[in-house]
Amino acid sequence: MSEHYLDHVSRQLAEIEASGLRKAERVMTSPQSSHVKVQADGEQREMLNLCANNYLGLAQHPKVHAAAAQGMDEWGYGLASVRFICGTQSVHKQLESALSTFLQKEDTILYPSCFDANGGLFETLLDEKDAVISDQLNHASIIDGIRLCKAQRYRYLNSDMADLEAQLKAADSRGARFKLITTDGVFSMDGYFAKLSDICDLAQRYQALVHVDDCHATGFIGAGGRGSPERSACLDRVDIITGTMGKALGGASGGFTSAHGPIVELLRQKSRPYLFSNSVAPAVVAGALKALELVADDSVLRDRLQRNTERFREGLQELGYELLPGEHPIIPVMVYDASKAAQLAHGIVEHGVYVTPFSFPVVPRGKARIRTQMSAAFSDDDIDQALAAFAAVRKDVFN
Ligand SMILES: Cc1ncc(COP(=O)(O)O)c(C=O)c1O
Repeated sequence: MSEHYLDHVSRQLAEIEASGLRKAERVMTSPQSSHVKVQADGEQREMLNLCANNYLGLAQHPKVHAAAAQGMDEWGYGLASVRFICGTQSVHKQLESALSTFLQKEDTILYPSCFDANGGLFETLLDEKDAVISDQLNHASIIDGIRLCKAQRYRYLNSDMADLEAQLKAADSRGARFKLITTDGVFSMDGYFAKLSDICDLAQRYQALVHVDDCHATGFIGAGGRGSPERSACLDRVDIITGTMGKALGGASGGFTSAHGPIVELLRQKSRPYLFSNSVAPAVVAGALKALELVADDSVLRDRLQRNTERFREGLQELGYELLPGEHPIIPVMVYDASKAAQLAHGIVEHGVYVTPFSFPVVPRGKARIRTQMSAAFSDDDIDQALAAFAAVRKDVFN
């Protein structure tokens, strides 16, 4: 390895460190759960976990664990193959079919992750004659997926329908053959929902397709848990949904795209992360199937999540914290100043509650926050503990 190159790398690392942007991994010594053990200063501390995407608590659900263990016994550890060579078992087809039924789409294709589902979407479906019109706050995987695609690119201001319309017109005036509007269903730094009903109206008016990345909604948003399109009563008008099994649906890994049958078939033929990456491990597939069954069967976990979200929101507001408005279990506590956000998070962690500060470049400069996330697995006592920690630290940071 050339010293010259290593110097170049070390300089970049030093710049990251100096600008306060270094991301350190906090090591856990327990399974993911509402309470986790975390290594800190050479000891292990038990903490209430307020920063996982474990919305329904299914990462720790005994039935999901049992299904995954049985899946491994029945189907083995790994496939050692991509799907189309010798990496498709009936359990993969079962999960694809269950997701299609749940999301009311004709077909579904699994991917190793939703990052891959988004990465392999646009290039497969669009070419240089087409246009993709993307919300400016879309997830990195959508941005990267669009980069891989030759379609004309248009970006609209976050949830700004006038700007979306202007971009649709611009695409038309440049003669785009097909137009695809792409948006996150939920913008995960803010917990804000995309305006899907308005987006679908515009799509209809300008004859565009609609893609929604619903990673922060599938399983727990909408009356039946079908996500943000269900919440906006436009499940039938959204053409393509991408999602993850790595959050509410058990939290292991894996992603999917659900859409019209021919679209999914074209993805199976041409989508590169599907063609050139290993199959999702059967234990994960079996666990996700169970998670989906639990979600589809009743609303107990969703109701609990909603109750916890309302209770925690109200409690934080009573303590005088400023929150972004909303109803999603992502509850951002606004601090604005990056070093204050870090100080607040540090104090809360000291009180046994695991939270993370977010500052630039993850959120805009001057908009630092602590992003908390609720879970159906939290008890009332857990929420009281979290509120007590926020109460104890508030005066130290804000006075
Ligand atoms: C909106 C959104 N899309 C895609 C992804 C990627 O999902 P996965 O972890 O399955 O790759 C995430 C995860 O952070 C996400 O929040």
